[in-house]
Amino acid sequence: MTVHHPPPPTGDTASRATATGVPPSGDTAAGTPADQAPLAGRTALVTGATGQLGDAVCRLLAARGAAVVGVHRTPSERAEALAAGTGARLLRADLSDPDETAALLGRVRELGPAPDILVCAHGATARRPVLGGAYDAAAEQRLWQLNTGSVQQLAAAAAKRMMRAKFGRIVLFGSRGGATGMPGQPGYAAAKAALSGWAASAAWELGPFGVTVNVVAPGAVRARPEDAPVYSAEEDERAAGRTAVRRLAEPAEIAEAVGFLAAPGASYVTGQTLLVDGGARW
Ligand SMILES: NC(=O)c1ccc[n+]([C@@H]2O[C@H](COP(=O)([O-])OP(=O)(O)OC[C@H]3O[C@@H](n4cnc5c(N)ncnc54)[C@H](OP(=O)(O)O)[C@@H]3O)[C@@H](O)[C@H]2O)c1
Repeated sequence: MTVHHPPPPTGDTASRATATGVPPSGDTAAGTPADQAPLAGRTALVTGATGQLGDAVCRLLAARGAAVVGVHRTPSERAEALAAGTGARLLRADLSDPDETAALLGRVRELGPAPDILVCAHGATARRPVLGGAYDAAAEQRLWQLNTGSVQQLAAAAAKRMMRAKFGRIVLFGSRGGATGMPGQPGYAAAKAALSGWAASAAWELGPFGVTVNVVAPGAVRARPEDAPVYSAEEDERAAGRTAVRRLAEPAEIAEAVGFLAAPGASYVTGQTLLVDGGARW
């Protein structure tokens, strides 16, 4: 059996950190102990910030010390509450529009530093079964652009800036259904599956620059009571019964996975799709 030893250190900790993207241990740049505010001094850009998962992600990243810039499309009290509760700055953009997506990072830069962390938590599904009628190419193209095209576009642009800084964390929102299939929502499941292939490919290119790219793929999440339900109570009950924990996820439980992947310490996890699905089996 061949035993692989790590290469000997070639310099001090700080210079090795610069070369590999591995964070130096100890206090953060802001002087806060790293275990209390591991994201102090980092800027996080979170799309879908007013969604149930994006909102939970913004709150978690802000609580861990990140300066958060959230993106949403529609003005809402929820957006105001998020900004008031976290100090997050919010921008509005329609990410189904490639031009608005292209302009987004420039707008973020007007507010402050380029993002060290990008979390793409926007998206929407559509119920259009394979056998449901004529294939609606225009509608499927819009669905693809929102759930995959805009994500690739934004992540690629952010990655270029992160590479120059020799640090970056990119977390994309896929879906368990991207791997298992989602009866009645084939276009959405296909778009989510595509993100795993994109992340695994981009991780390979970006790894040498200290930039990781991963996908969090949630299973079924408990919807906010005030939102129009996507799934019926019976569908939710069935989904909960198929999990090992016998319940739907809380948004904060999904955000925890993002928090892990966004942290400096997750420097050796990349190209992965992390199922956060309560151990679902079907
Ligand atoms: N919830 C689940 O059970 C579940 C399971 C698996 C995967 N996911 C994925 O996880 C991510 C977050 O889901 P969620 O449940 O938090 O979704 P959500 O509550 O429906 O929120 C969607 C978010 O995306 C934004 N958005 C939608 N269309 C947009 C557009 N054209 N341009 C810009 N922003 C747009 C919305 O902004 P506005 O409100 O301002 O329009 C909102 O902030 C999504 O990618 C979703 O596909 C969710």
